[in-house]
Amino acid sequence: MSESSRGNTSRREFLKDSGRIAAAAATVTAAGTVPHVHAAENNILQVALIGCGFRGTGATANALAVEPGPMKLVAVADVFPSRIETSLRTLARAVAARYDRLAHDGYQEQIDVPQERQFVGFDAYKKALDCLQPGDIAILTTPPAFRWAHFDYAVQKGVHVFMEKPVTADGPTSRRMLELGKQAEAKNLKVGVGLMSRHARNLQQLHQRVRDGELGEILLMRGYRMHGPGGSAFSEPWPGTPSELLWQIQRFHSFIWASGGVYNDFYIHIIDHCCWLKGAWPVTAHGLGGRHYRGSWVDQNFDSYAVEYTFHDGAKLFFNGRCMPGAHFNFSSQLHGTRGCAIASRVNDCGGPSSTYAGHTFDGAQQRWQSEIPAAETSPYQNHWNALVAAIREDRPFNEVEEGVMASVVGSMGRKAAHTATEITLDAMLNSPDEYAPGLDQWTLDSPAPLQMVEGSYPVPMPGIVTDREYPM
Ligand SMILES: NC(=O)c1ccc[n+]([C@@H]2O[C@H](COP(=O)([O-])OP(=O)(O)OC[C@H]3O[C@@H](n4cnc5c(N)ncnc54)[C@H](O)[C@@H]3O)[C@@H](O)[C@H]2O)c1
Repeated sequence: MSESSRGNTSRREFLKDSGRIAAAAATVTAAGTVPHVHAAENNILQVALIGCGFRGTGATANALAVEPGPMKLVAVADVFPSRIETSLRTLARAVAARYDRLAHDGYQEQIDVPQERQFVGFDAYKKALDCLQPGDIAILTTPPAFRWAHFDYAVQKGVHVFMEKPVTADGPTSRRMLELGKQAEAKNLKVGVGLMSRHARNLQQLHQRVRDGELGEILLMRGYRMHGPGGSAFSEPWPGTPSELLWQIQRFHSFIWASGGVYNDFYIHIIDHCCWLKGAWPVTAHGLGGRHYRGSWVDQNFDSYAVEYTFHDGAKLFFNGRCMPGAHFNFSSQLHGTRGCAIASRVNDCGGPSSTYAGHTFDGAQQRWQSEIPAAETSPYQNHWNALVAAIREDRPFNEVEEGVMASVVGSMGRKAAHTATEITLDAMLNSPDEYAPGLDQWTLDSPAPLQMVEGSYPVPMPGIVTDREYPM
């Protein structure tokens, strides 16, 4: 089924009834741009969810909670039917307030996804996006490898997009995504990328203070994400079912092709917000890392990373990442400038309060400022969605593709520097010819996995030995 509950007829009537919108619709034919048809009253924004997992369900809840509405979920796509069932059930249920969502009574009335608009398979995204009209919204929350293919089709369909980070793990798909971002802009599509730190009120307040010069020149930033094993970072050998491809997708944090591994997928928020606060992307990176206590795990990750990024003005970002039980915990970020220091994230990806200090010891007696957030704005995820939908309804510019791609490239640059034990420039990473999952837009459920198990394990980085690629092929 390729038509949503609202149906073509009612959409046509709606368009016909509005002279302003009909005029805008003419622009679609003439210039290929999308009219902003959503400012009128009673105009429902339809949503399709591609990738019905943990974050896709959370992002959809954020979408359905946007005020002012109305918003409606009309189609879903996944490669596993069970994920669709769980997601729809979760969305219909009341939840207490969580970090990514405010409390709600369930979104049953905003869910209109009969069986015929629940799609399964590698081409399911196309069928779900075919249910939307130009000007509706696609949520792209599969593992990152699929982002470019799904975004490409969304842009072709003329729908606005929310997509999760990271958006790429290699050079060719980064360049492709930058190009697609420009196409989206030319079509007046609004695009949000899940770097929610930039929508956390504590970090927005700190960002303004840094811009106003409170810390002077930023010379040093420190980022840490050091905790026990998380997500699907560490994997035991493939058990033989489901297919090796679907299993690697389920365990996407374990495989560089699928996500960029823990370095890209976990560390991107801290790295991104440090760069955003600095107002620049680093130009080079070198790094260290290692695999300890590996037992029977066969994933491609190091369990510890220490990367030194250098900016054009010589400033540094030191990033330390570790997934290891029993080790010291630190999940935070700090800045040091010529006129003082700041805590950016106190804990987690962007947790407040942020604060600034005279000197460099974070001494409470020298504290200058601490962030305060209105109760309704404590979820950076919801703030992000509110901003995206407001931009759609008010037809204001909103395109986060470039920062999403560049944050992903900076992640890949640090990861590759550690994996190869070489210095990697931003330019070299962005222009690298190595694509880790070529042709994935043609995959079927029977396709082979892009990484094949050999003698019970997968190739892993060999720093200093394999230096031109991230792992032996
Ligand atoms: N911004 C944040 O704080 C945040 C938090 C968690 C996850 N994420 C991001 O969200 C994305 C998904 O992470 P998750 O934790 O929800 O993972 P998940 O495994 O829970 O969900 C991914 C879903 O996508 C489905 N899927 C995989 N390939 C598909 C394909 N080709 N077509 C359709 N469906 C497909 C999977 O079956 C699964 O249901 C990742 O990019 C991750 O980095 C962001």
